[in-house]
Amino acid sequence: MAAAPKTIPRHIAIIMDGNGRWAANHGLPRIKGHEKGADAVRACVEACGELKVEYLTLYAFSAENWQRPKTEVFALMRLLEKFLKEKTAELLEKNVRLQAIGRLTDLPLNCQRQLHESIERTAGNDGLTLVLALSYGARLEIIDAIQSLLREIEAGHIDKAMINPDLFSKHLYTRYYPDPDLLIRTSGELRLSNFLLWQLSYTEIYVTPKLWPEFGKEDLRAAVADFAQRQRRYGVV
Ligand code: IPE
Ligand code: IPE
Ligand code: MG
Repeated sequence: MAAAPKTIPRHIAIIMDGNGRWAANHGLPRIKGHEKGADAVRACVEACGELKVEYLTLYAFSAENWQRPKTEVFALMRLLEKFLKEKTAELLEKNVRLQAIGRLTDLPLNCQRQLHESIERTAGNDGLTLVLALSYGARLEIIDAIQSLLREIEAGHIDKAMINPDLFSKHLYTRYYPDPDLLIRTSGELRLSNFLLWQLSYTEIYVTPKLWPEFGKEDLRAAVADFAQRQRRYGVV
């Protein structure tokens, strides 16, 4: 039997796309779009807190995004550091616990330091868990999980016959979180762009033409209302 519909997703994941297009539409350099995009995060965090969503995962920088022009990458890293520096107090005030997934050691050292400081400072919060995907690529995550499993096998901690979807999930960066119930992608693109390939197997997908810098509380609520109408079947009848 299909599971009873849950109106509020426990875990929402968002591909925050369209900063560059927003900037172009306003005759501004791309980085202005990223700045505006960073500001848009607040509304979603607030709306998720109000709706009692437990986890919000934001795709902020992909493993592939390193291939963008150096100036844009540099500006994005500076923006990340500034965002963390300026917003940690607000996260504390809103009882938000910050976490991060991805190849975090690829980030510039000052970003890593600031990230770990923000994570530590908010570690005791028990409201919304905000997970930033940084230098994140799902294929890399899956490869990292395989490497981790191989190490465990070589060390004699597990036997290869024990490998199943549950055990595999425990070796992903996302091992502490349930799979997303709802995936939102802004800017209308109909693709996953190497985001959470394993975890999104049964996630409901919502794509909006709105560009990320324009995505507000009402838009998040509209996505959640749409989710509430979905019938999740997980392959059964
Ligand atoms: C998303 O906006 C932010 C990042 C990928 C860092 P984009 O920069 O991809 O914006 P578009 O897709 O060019 O409009
Ligand atoms: C996905 O957006 C990555 C983030 C939102 C961080 P991209 O703009 O990088 O994806 P593509 O290039 O359109 O697939
Ligand atoms: Mg894009």
